[in-house]
Amino acid sequence: MPDSAFAYQNPTLPVEARVADLLSRMTRQEKIAQCAQLFVILSNRPQIEALIRKQGLGSRILASTHLAGSVREIATEVEDINALQRVAVEETRLGIPLIHGRDVIHGHRTVFPIPLAMAAAWEPGLVEQAYTIAAREAASAGVNWAFAPMLDIARDPRWGRIIEGFGEDPYLASRNTVAAVKGFQGEDLSSPDRILACAKHYIGYGSAEGGRDYNTGEISDHTLRNIYLPPFKAAVEAGLGSVMSAFLDFNGEPASGSHYLLTELLKGELGFSGFIVSDWDSVVELINHRVAEDERAAAQIAFNAGVDMEMVSDSYLQHLDQLLENGEVSEERLEDAVRRILTAKFRLGLFERPYTDPALGEKVQFTPEHQALARRIAGMGMVLLQNKNSLLPLSRDLKHIAVIGPLARQRSALLGAWVLDGLISETQTLLEAIQQACPQAEVPEISDAMNDEMLMAVADSDVVILAVGESNARSGEYNCVASLDLPAGQEALIEAVANLGKPLVLVVLAGRPVNLTRAVRLADAILYAWHPGSLGAKAIADILFGAVYPSGKLPVTFPRGEGQIPLYYNHKSTGRPHMNRTLDLPVEPLYPFGFGLSYTTFSYRDIKVDRSSIKLAESVTVSALVTNTGRHAGEEVVQCYLQDCVASLTRPVRELKGFARVALQPGKSQRVSFTLGPAELSFYDRSGKLVVEPGKFKVWIGGDSQATLEGQFSVTP
Ligand code: NOJ
Repeated sequence: MPDSAFAYQNPTLPVEARVADLLSRMTRQEKIAQCAQLFVILSNRPQIEALIRKQGLGSRILASTHLAGSVREIATEVEDINALQRVAVEETRLGIPLIHGRDVIHGHRTVFPIPLAMAAAWEPGLVEQAYTIAAREAASAGVNWAFAPMLDIARDPRWGRIIEGFGEDPYLASRNTVAAVKGFQGEDLSSPDRILACAKHYIGYGSAEGGRDYNTGEISDHTLRNIYLPPFKAAVEAGLGSVMSAFLDFNGEPASGSHYLLTELLKGELGFSGFIVSDWDSVVELINHRVAEDERAAAQIAFNAGVDMEMVSDSYLQHLDQLLENGEVSEERLEDAVRRILTAKFRLGLFERPYTDPALGEKVQFTPEHQALARRIAGMGMVLLQNKNSLLPLSRDLKHIAVIGPLARQRSALLGAWVLDGLISETQTLLEAIQQACPQAEVPEISDAMNDEMLMAVADSDVVILAVGESNARSGEYNCVASLDLPAGQEALIEAVANLGKPLVLVVLAGRPVNLTRAVRLADAILYAWHPGSLGAKAIADILFGAVYPSGKLPVTFPRGEGQIPLYYNHKSTGRPHMNRTLDLPVEPLYPFGFGLSYTTFSYRDIKVDRSSIKLAESVTVSALVTNTGRHAGEEVVQCYLQDCVASLTRPVRELKGFARVALQPGKSQRVSFTLGPAELSFYDRSGKLVVEPGKFKVWIGGDSQATLEGQFSVTP
């Protein structure tokens, strides 16, 4: 039991003073233990308790396997968490609490849409609310630290982890990242309903070759800084508390062993003051990467590179003492790592509030308010890709509706991957949601298999809602694909159903862009619903029957097939822009980044640039008139793209630099403005400096990345 008279126990002192006081009392063994995160199961619990009593422990990971998001997780128990915490707080000399980390990727018990789908809502304000709720629910379950948000830019939809991030664009990802960090951490991290965020996976993990998880990534420093770094920079500026180092071998160095990436770039140049945790075993995996001979060398490389806490493997616990003894790791480096970790613990208020009330969870989880937000953001992120003859919205007076397909009665496919705490039993199926939305209609229960019973139901129906796509098990960590085609048999099913000539609505549940080239020809309407979460089925019904108008836009380009990969809107011009072709497919995507229909139509005109010329440090305001030209009310995500016409390095053909949602009644117009200043006009030059270069800039405002309404201005020295 610690002495309560120690200065670090005094909550009125500033955090720095408390950390300094505590550090001055700690032995080397106690410091090393703070740099370890272990996972605790029944069989190793006695040893871990003994370790804690002897020297303490930094953290406990609340996961039961190394593929936490891809296999069924064991639920956490608050009493169990409190019990181990009690050992750390009450049975050790200094009473330093553990910090409990868990994957809270898109909600805790209330499951929000997958992050890629939240990005499709283009509404960071709601993303912040979603992560605020995730934090509140997770905190009530004893979680102090979420391994999220994932900020990896993804340009390859074969990569299963594309679901976890905010898509292909650095600007959209940065806006959502800031929202997620604020949602988790709030203004005051010590309030009981906030938890520490962890931005991951630093860095370049989304560049894994072939879209195969854990694979090598090779990207130039130019692309690293201009495309992959901005979300991390934004997160650091938003006060992010921790970062997870990636698994991959990046530009010839494992990311978890790179002094350049971790210490020089992140802690140095970006000024990150939180702590860095490795990914699961990624310290000892330096041996597999063949940059370390053994665990001792792995610990030395990772620790010196800047990884402050080791996740799961215990090479720090085993070897740091001797490495320090031999001068292969410095005492200053140890002090720095422990200072960073303890700072997070004090900021979280763990010394004052180490335990969680076991009765809290039931009061705060899955409340009607949380469900309402989950339903709202799910609906906002769904993207209407096609709506021939305005088939949607459907009338609630329909008499016979066939809700069929392999995912029509699946609950887990609505939740998606990385659901550790959401309950299948609290997730309605699409069939149930539609039966509830249209109580007067006949919506038969039929088997999911394609058989005559299914085809007869189709033949008897006024409209067919066919749910296809990916199960939750087809994306997430370690779940990559070589082909973007719909899973086996689904295209044949779509064709068989389409042959019956009934109005056909395709609802696609998926964690990535799948190849819809054939489906587009066969279906009348296509709603891309992603994996929309606990309230996802209701949100789909809301859109299909017009209670909510679709307004989501794609946060990622949809290719016509995997042969087009990589395909992203912010590509370079090349020396022969007019000779960009493949002989067997058009080079254009099936759907461009930013695309999404509504039940109404919008037009854009009268672009205005308030100043034709600005100085380097100044800003310009660009605006356009947006009009609802259709017959329904609707919301449009107005997007602003920029091109730096001539620069010292090749720059993208266009880059997203602003967006705004506007709600318009039929016939109404609104002028929408964007301010573009140094933050938007700059890029990292050859020497790694953020610069604005004088010259001409073009700007477009429109409803997707192919917007044509163009303005221009110039920047002078
Ligand atoms: C490995 C994953 O890469 C990472 O994202 C996750 O947070 C950890 N496992 C912990 O489950």
